Amino acid sequence: MKVDKNISLKAYNTFGVDVKAKQFISVSSEDELFEILKRFYASELFIIGGGSNMLLTQDVEDTVLHVNLKGIEILENHKNHVLVAANAGENWHEFVTYCVNNNFGGIENLSLIPGNVGTAPVQNIGAYGVELKDTFEYCEAINRQTLTKKRFNLEDCEFGYRNSVFKNKLKDQFVISKVVFKLTKKKHNFKLDYGALKQEFAKKKPNLKSISDAVIAIRESKLPNPKTLGNSGSFFKNPIVQREKFEEIQKDFPDMPFYEINNDEIKIPAGWLIETTGLKGFREGDAGVHEKQALVLVNYGSASGQNILNLANLVQEKVQQKFGIMLENEVNIF
Ligand code: EPU
Repeated sequence: MKVDKNISLKAYNTFGVDVKAKQFISVSSEDELFEILKRFYASELFIIGGGSNMLLTQDVEDTVLHVNLKGIEILENHKNHVLVAANAGENWHEFVTYCVNNNFGGIENLSLIPGNVGTAPVQNIGAYGVELKDTFEYCEAINRQTLTKKRFNLEDCEFGYRNSVFKNKLKDQFVISKVVFKLTKKKHNFKLDYGALKQEFAKKKPNLKSISDAVIAIRESKLPNPKTLGNSGSFFKNPIVQREKFEEIQKDFPDMPFYEINNDEIKIPAGWLIETTGLKGFREGDAGVHEKQALVLVNYGSASGQNILNLANLVQEKVQQKFGIMLENEVNIF
């Protein structure tokens, strides 16, 4: 177990925001995790995983608990599928790479998403037509009050678009320690409907590795790498609006991209809304709207969390003024 006092959290959040933690404890086994959860009241701990979906706007007074449990294990090996368990502290992309290299199919479209395995179910990470829930078998999580371990099956997690029970009624109540996936060994179900992937594989036969490589190339062409430019992926969710509202906007903007969710609801890409307000590439100090994907806010170096939050508020205001749509944050703000 690693205990530090008064350390910077810059290396622990992908925005690269420099705030301090009074006390920082990193646990690398389930026993250590239990020990810390026992020692502190739930309200005294601030839990951090890969730090890829958070914006820290102030120093953290509570003790930061860094969940760094490593390990990947094949739980069941069948003719057509495997059950693979990954501990919460495994880096998500390294886990995807392990699966692709072992020819385990189902999460290749989720290549290069920043963050750790343990936080992936919280927001049901998704990209290029695939969401975590599609291969999720179950996860194990520790109840912070009772210190008992509970298994959450698919239906218990109430997964939705960038959403789960862990963000809603069970918010802050559990620490996910392990996630188990059901992945294919044969007859992979390739998902290639997303525009750029469809194009790439129009004349080429796909396999897990080539899909993963294509996803990596698409992401690298549009999305900034947090290692070189601080960011938290999409800062906002794509808003879902009623058809009437959509048609009203479409009158003025016939080229607006959209996805039909059902007869009544339409999802509009927030990146397009933001770009249309003219804010793509906008920069104030070191806080900016990414120049290639307006849905991503970036830290050019020394922006504070508050600077980035101010920019996020400006983006919300402009989109609200122009379209009458209030963008909802995807990133958690502290
Ligand atoms: N668009 C613009 N301007 C922009 C950005 C996008 O006009 O600056 C338009 C694009 O031209 C396209 C549409 O918006 O017509 C959708 O863009 P894109 O395919 O880049 O995807 P997105 O809807 O902006 C979502 C996810 C991403 C995920 C991609 C691909 C959310 C909040 N974001 O973005 O997830 O990688 O789809 O599946 O749902 C993340 O969650 O951090 C993330 C990066």
